[in-house]
Amino acid sequence: MRSDANIAGPMTDPVPGPRSESLGDDVSRETPPPMDDTPIGRAAQLAVQALGRAGEGLPRPEQTRVMVVANQKGGVGKTTTTVNLAASLALHGARVLVVDLDPQGNASTALGIDHHSEVPSIYDVLVDSRPLSDVVQPVPDVEGLFCAPATIDLAGAEIELVSLVARESRLDRAIKAYEQPLDYILIDCPPSLGLLTVNALVAGAEVLIPIQCEYYALEGLGQLLRNVDLVRGHLNPKLHVSTILLTMYDGRTRLASQVADEVRSHFGSEVLRTSIPRSVRISEAPSYGQTVLTYDPGSSGSLSYLEAAREIALRGVSGTAGQGLSVTYESQHSMSEGNQ
Ligand SMILES: Nc1ncnc2c1ncn2[C@@H]1O[C@H](COP(=O)(O)OP(=O)(O)OP(=O)(O)O)[C@@H](O)[C@H]1O
Ligand SMILES: [Mg+2]
Repeated sequence: MRSDANIAGPMTDPVPGPRSESLGDDVSRETPPPMDDTPIGRAAQLAVQALGRAGEGLPRPEQTRVMVVANQKGGVGKTTTTVNLAASLALHGARVLVVDLDPQGNASTALGIDHHSEVPSIYDVLVDSRPLSDVVQPVPDVEGLFCAPATIDLAGAEIELVSLVARESRLDRAIKAYEQPLDYILIDCPPSLGLLTVNALVAGAEVLIPIQCEYYALEGLGQLLRNVDLVRGHLNPKLHVSTILLTMYDGRTRLASQVADEVRSHFGSEVLRTSIPRSVRISEAPSYGQTVLTYDPGSSGSLSYLEAAREIALRGVSGTAGQGLSVTYESQHSMSEGNQ
């Protein structure tokens, strides 16, 4: 009865350790030569084939969809979701930019993008008004995917921004001035509700909230929803929560399904049908500078992110993404809000 059942295989990957090489070997024996003959390109193409939809592009949005991946709770899967959804959308044929807005630079690392302190980064865009095009880099081996990296400098930006003109809308301005055609921009936020996250909320129309299927999953969400309302009221009337994604779902535990049920009953149609399983492959991929889509294309984690991306793309076209949540959630349910 679980509507969030994942599309393939067990909820967790049973075999620990890297598997990509052996997968590559199997694959090269069993499949015709793919168009892209780099190992990662081949693997990526296989991921799409694994869904039985090779060559079937998803509908592209008429205008660039700017999605803010936010949840001030740490470690809930924001970065993992940003990079894997972005790669999935790119594999489906979209042009996608990941903006790394977290001084930890985890999204840049996971995409294999150099982000030592000398690299032109989103800090230069926000603080020194450098054009976004100066800092955007193509992601190796995933066609159509780009990244604006974060360096450690960004840690100071929260404070430096305070005294700057239009401090809340600097990212928005940079994105509006960026002339390259894009279907999606995904912004990976830090685990806080400071000026960096506010810049993301001003720049985007859609908020995507990853929720980890753990105890206290909903803690602090009231604060996030209230901030979304504040930004909508004062700075960005288009802003709404369009998408909620359940992450690290462990089908073996009753807790995970209880949390999933609770989130679905509170939030309804914004929750994607696809949830992301807890998967060793997903957590291993960043240490190889890869998304799970290229690291282990056939894994349950890869397939679930591809499916989630598909849902997001189709919702955008059907208009569901335009409805969004209101803060009435907050008035109906008491939530702890100390978690800023
Ligand atoms: N589906 C998953 N299965 C297994 N591990 C996962 C999954 N999703 C994320 N992780 C792991 O959980 C940890 C936290 O994930 P992630 O960095 O994406 O969270 P975050 O919300 O971006 O964290 P932060 O708040 O620090 O930015 C990472 O080690 C990541 O590899
Ligand atoms: Mg993160």
